[in-house]
Amino acid sequence: MKNEDLKKEILKLKKEKNAVILGHYYQIDDIQEVSDYVGDSLALAQEAQRTQAEIIVFCGVHFMAETAKILNPSRKVLLPDINASCSLAESCTGEDLRKFKEEHPGHFVVSYVNCSAAVKAESDLICTSGNAEKLINALPKDQKIIFAPDKNLGGYINSQTGRNMVLWNGVCTVHDSLTSENILNMKAAHPEAPVVAHPECNAAVLAVSDFIGSTKAMLTYISKSQSKQFIVATEPGILYEMKRNNPDKEFLNVFNIEGCSCNECSYMKLNTLEKLYNCLLNETPEIVMDMATIEKAAKPIVRMLDMSRELGIIK
Ligand code: 13P
Ligand code: SF4
Repeated sequence: MKNEDLKKEILKLKKEKNAVILGHYYQIDDIQEVSDYVGDSLALAQEAQRTQAEIIVFCGVHFMAETAKILNPSRKVLLPDINASCSLAESCTGEDLRKFKEEHPGHFVVSYVNCSAAVKAESDLICTSGNAEKLINALPKDQKIIFAPDKNLGGYINSQTGRNMVLWNGVCTVHDSLTSENILNMKAAHPEAPVVAHPECNAAVLAVSDFIGSTKAMLTYISKSQSKQFIVATEPGILYEMKRNNPDKEFLNVFNIEGCSCNECSYMKLNTLEKLYNCLLNETPEIVMDMATIEKAAKPIVRMLDMSRELGIIK
């Protein structure tokens, strides 16, 4: 089937089956186009929690679909490609984190949402890149903290909050591969263009960036900015929404190697229109989890959402 026909069929099936399609900003343009909600991890988790739809089709990666299932266990949650993983989620297992906790007794465990349900079940609080700084700031100043699994985001939050969180040694291989050298070269060629970067980038990249924030925060910054050109240090899927919201502005994608699209997340890009169509049609692959894990993993996620509401980060 052609893409336009697939899109029509997807919208038809979605209505027939009372399904909602949640899409992350890093999905391919066609998927973002047919999604009911496109957002960052925090907004999508909120949407998954409140949806009344019978089926949630999560166009993102596995940990995001798992989070949707944990927050709304009575719904059927589908992921177009069940192999859509994440290097951060793969860097730390529940068992790894349990051992790390034993090595650091008395620490409160904050885990970035980019982790498996087993890691969430071992955590006290979950955060996203959209709320991490405010949530950590809200914890008692003398609280000893473990931050897993992203050492780049954790290091950035340490620098912003003056904390000394113990960091798990994981990275997003997509963001970590971007180099400051590449960005400085682009800055030299486009001196008027501010650099916007995701906090999963390494410290050297963040040091030469003008704005650091979650996918949603970058979009807000760009919409409010008077600049006409931006250097974008994140996954290029977001350029779809950046261009859609700001047709008069220009976006320069940072490649880690000249001329190659190596900053594309191969996991995010596993989802295709065809897989989305088949997934809605056959109602598979489905996220299946045992109730014990759901209940354990739900506590730190619900805590994150409650704290985010109390702190005015979300409504
Ligand atoms: P956001 O929550 O900023 O959308 O990030 C998700 C992600 O996977 C970034 O790599
Ligand atoms: Fe994971 Fe990085 Fe891909 Fe986000 S971009 S899903 S953190 S590998």
